[in-house]
Amino acid sequence: MRNCFYYWGFAAWLAYYINHPLYTPPSYGQKQVNFALIMCLTCEAGNFSIHIALSNLRKDSKGSKTCKIPYPTKNPFTWLFYFVSCPNYTYELGTWIGFTIMTQCVPVGLFTLLCFIQLTVWAKDKHYTYLREFKDYPSLRMSIIPFLL
Ligand SMILES: *[C@@H]1O[C@H](CO)[C@@H](O)[C@H](O)[C@H]1NC(C)=O
Ligand SMILES: *[C@@H]1O[C@H](CO)[C@@H](O)[C@H](O)[C@H]1NC(C)=O
Repeated sequence: MRNCFYYWGFAAWLAYYINHPLYTPPSYGQKQVNFALIMCLTCEAGNFSIHIALSNLRKDSKGSKTCKIPYPTKNPFTWLFYFVSCPNYTYELGTWIGFTIMTQCVPVGLFTLLCFIQLTVWAKDKHYTYLREFKDYPSLRMSIIPFLL
């Protein structure tokens, strides 16, 4: 229920601004939109790749109760696993940053900021669970932003 209100509420609010007759297009016009679109699509592909990698990991460990450390695979999108524990959240954040650049709109930026906070909370939680569970956990990994956070 709460999620529904949150997402539909934001969708309506953002749509109101983006489709308003007084909406001003991004400063750098079509170039900015194209750049942001590529960023969104790249991150979506990344998000999808991580989803597949995690789901394969779960498939492999079916039967045994122990969960495993996810590692990068042959798919370059999963190489973020070298640097962060939750690349799916990194990509999700990237998607929303792309959308913010595309629309160049303050409410969208606010939505992205709230996402960033929530995703960071989840990522840190997961990261510390990994650290607690695995003594040999890769030490280079951060929670969500490579080398930073
Ligand atoms: C993102 O990754 C984390 C850590 O691997 C996982 O716990 C979580 O379920 C994933 N989120 C989604 C929406 O798949
Ligand atoms: C990323 O993938 C997860 C499923 O693994 C999905 O729940 C989430 O909405 C996706 N994020 C974006 C920004 O598309």
